[in-house]
Order: sequence, then C-alpha cells, then structure tokens
Amino acid sequence: MTGSRRTHIIGVGGYLPRRVVTNAELAERVDTSDQWIVERTGIRQRHLAADGERTSDLAAAAARQALEVAGVTIDDIDALVVATTTPDLIFPSTAAIVQSKLGGAGFPAWDIQAVCAGFVYGLAQLDAMMRAGMFRRVLLIGAETMSRILNWDDRATCVLFGDGAGAVVLEQRAEAGGVIGSVLHGDGAHRDLLKAQYGSDVPRDRPDFHTDAAGVAAIAMRGNEVFRVAVKSLGAVVGEVLAAHNLTESDVDWLVPHQANLRIINAIAKRLTLPEERVAITVGIHANTSAASVPLALAHLHQQGRLQRDQLLLLESFGAGFVWGANLVRWSLGE
Ligand code: UT7
Repeated sequence: MTGSRRTHIIGVGGYLPRRVVTNAELAERVDTSDQWIVERTGIRQRHLAADGERTSDLAAAAARQALEVAGVTIDDIDALVVATTTPDLIFPSTAAIVQSKLGGAGFPAWDIQAVCAGFVYGLAQLDAMMRAGMFRRVLLIGAETMSRILNWDDRATCVLFGDGAGAVVLEQRAEAGGVIGSVLHGDGAHRDLLKAQYGSDVPRDRPDFHTDAAGVAAIAMRGNEVFRVAVKSLGAVVGEVLAAHNLTESDVDWLVPHQANLRIINAIAKRLTLPEERVAITVGIHANTSAASVPLALAHLHQQGRLQRDQLLLLESFGAGFVWGANLVRWSLGE
C-alpha cells in the first residue's frame, strides 16, 4: 500500500476539567446510590466544567496537547473540525472559536453534530477528504460540556454524563497504516428516544421539563430502549468494518469504544472475543462525554503508554438520532 495516501494519527491529547464529582455527591441531590450507578453503568465519577469554562476552552486545551505530541504548531494545520453537541453558541461554530483561541487563521474550521458519534463521523469525513488530497494536516477535536444540558434533578440522566475533550492531529502520508477505513450509519426513526429540545419545542403540558436560560431543554432519554439498539447496532457495525477490510476479530489489538455504559462496552468486547485488557475503559472515571469519549479514551491509553505502533485499533460509537459508526486505525505513534 506504500505510495498511496493514508491518514495517520500523529498526535493525541485530552483535557478534563479540574472538578471531579463522585456518585456519592450526586446521591446527596437525587434519589440514587453509588451502588446503583456502578452496577448499571460502571460510572464512579465525572469531571464537570467550571462556571465560565466553555466547550471551546476544553477543546483548545486538548488540541494544544495533541499539537505538542505531534511536534507541530497551529501554523502547520490546514483544517480544524470540532465534533460537539454542546457548542459554545448556536453560531459561530465552536471550531471557529477554537481556531481563534489557538491563534490560527486562514484555514477552514467547522463543527460536526453527530452527538456521541461525532468523533467517529469526523474521522471518517476527514480521512476521505485527506485521501482526496484536500488537506495535509488537520486537527479533529471531540469536546463537550454535557453538564450544561442536563437536568440535575433527573436521576435517570444526570448520573450518566461528564465534560471533557479529546483531540487528534491527522497527517496525510504516503506510508502504509493509519486509518484503514470507516463505516457510518444512521436511523432517524429513533429520534425521540434520546434528545435535548429547544425551549420552544418543550410541550406546554410539561412544566416539569427543565429549560435553561438559553432556552435549551435538558437531555431526555428512554434509557433501556437506547441500550438495546446500541448493543445491536454496535455489534453489527464492528463486524461490518472488519469484513469490509478482510480482517477478523483476532486481528484487533484494541477496542476503543464509546464510553456510555460498561455493560454495552463489555457486550461489544465479547462480540469481538477481546479480553478486558485489550479494551479502553474510561467510563468509570470520565462517564459519558459524548463526542469527546473516544478521543479521550485514546489520549488516556496513549498517556499510559499502552499503545504500540502498528497495533490495530477499532473505534466505535453510537449516539442520538440514532447515528453510529466505526473506524479501523493502525496506530502510527511510537517506535
Ligand atoms: O451515549 C448515547 C447512548 N446512550 C446510551 O447508550 C445509554 C444507554 N442506556 C443505558 O445505559 C441504561 O439504560 C441506563 C444506565 C440509562 C439505565 O439502566 P437500565 O438498567 O436500563 O435501567 P432502567 O432505565 O430500566 O431503570 C431501572 C430502574 C427504574 O426503576 P423501576 O421503574 O424499575 O422502579 C428507574 O427508575 O432504575 C431506576 N433508576 C434509578 N435508580 C437509582 C433510573 N435511574 C436511576 C438512578 N438511581 N440514577
């Protein structure tokens, strides 16, 4: 394959806000318990953004780390994409804000809204654009302040999410490896199972529905229905992306899954016959950070020195819509 264009991950970084909130702290506010949350989800704690700390701040911090690991500066970047479902503003895009915070100018910057699947969608999109020769080096960031769209009185959802950001620097190289391929799916028929509405859409007969000052209503989810479709869809897409590239379960070195629920992660690991030590698991310490969860898990593995060059990584994610997908990546960092 040497000679053809491939998209390599040459830098990775993560950022988590300083404040850590444990399950026990949440149990002081809503009728829940550490035991229930751990047994049903695997979550033990989550990081929450400080007042005034915005999605773009988290994104910029993760991006700076990824640039440093890559050994490049913002002046070497040709495009910047932020996957987020909690943008700073309706517009301009969070990507434009991050571009200015990083001191970049001139190159295109845009957001991707595919909720929890945003990073996986973004990697597929940028890989295709880079293979086509549009960009040589890009920043892809997943960043969220989910805490801003939660109803902190709803125990069914407020225990599940956290804030954070993860970023990668992608570089086009005429070298084997890198992103092998991606598969994306969507099915809007399920759009009502998991959503956050604008205030104007909130039913008038639901005075209990929490709406914030910006008119955005909190996340509402029919959890166990989402769970069932997530397991089925993710189980199918990991098989599909492997088959598309003539690879099998035994070729996979690492599963880097969306971090929504440890039970979903375990079901997919079992489907791939992967032992726990080959699965990135950060849901316990980060909770569900939506579009940030996969790149944060990657950053975590990298920082722990657990990823080796040429290992095959299977990334997957599933989010509201529903939208879901998977990427196969040969790791390019390290010796
Ligand atoms: O990132 C996007 C994709 N999102 C997901 O993948 C999330 C998928 N869904 C899930 O992870 C799980 O469905 C949940 C963790 C959200 C819920 O777990 P579950 O085992 O499906 O529980 P459930 O919704 O069926 O609720 C079981 C019981 C209910 O009580 P009753 O009706 O049996 O009396 C809930 O009211 O648990 C109750 N419950 C809680 N109890 C204590 C719900 N939330 C809580 C809570 N603490 N925080």
